[in-house]
Amino acid sequence: MAKESNKVTTFLNLAFMLSIILIITASESRSFFGAVTKGSPTLSCQSVVGVVSGDTCFDIAKDQNLSTTAFDAINPNLNCSALFIGQWLCVSGSII
Ligand SMILES: *[C@@H]1O[C@H](CO)[C@@H](O)[C@H](O)[C@H]1NC(C)=O
Ligand SMILES: *[C@@H]1O[C@H](CO)[C@@H](O)[C@H](O)[C@H]1NC(C)=O
Repeated sequence: MAKESNKVTTFLNLAFMLSIILIITASESRSFFGAVTKGSPTLSCQSVVGVVSGDTCFDIAKDQNLSTTAFDAINPNLNCSALFIGQWLCVSGSII
């Protein structure tokens, strides 16, 4: 009888430990997802233009009536000092 209850206690301890691990894992993955969402929002680009000779980011934004802030927002990680002819730039998009 004493042996049986020992087994039950061991099982309960194990189950308790497992649930703690699961809770920690779940809360960690939630904050991980939160960080990812904050760091790189999903960008949906509806319209692009190709860079032609002599274009600058500023020219393209102006042609499309976009503020530089709006242009930068839909072209993350774009290096405007290294545009190349034929490069696609987003000129209409939304950040979800
Ligand atoms: C930008 O605005 C000007 C003046 O309002 C307009 O003539 C032009 O068609 C617009 N261009 C685009 C791409 O919306
Ligand atoms: C952008 O491109 C220029 C020219 O290739 C380079 O010198 C500069 O380091 C680049 N900047 C970034 C932030 O990558």
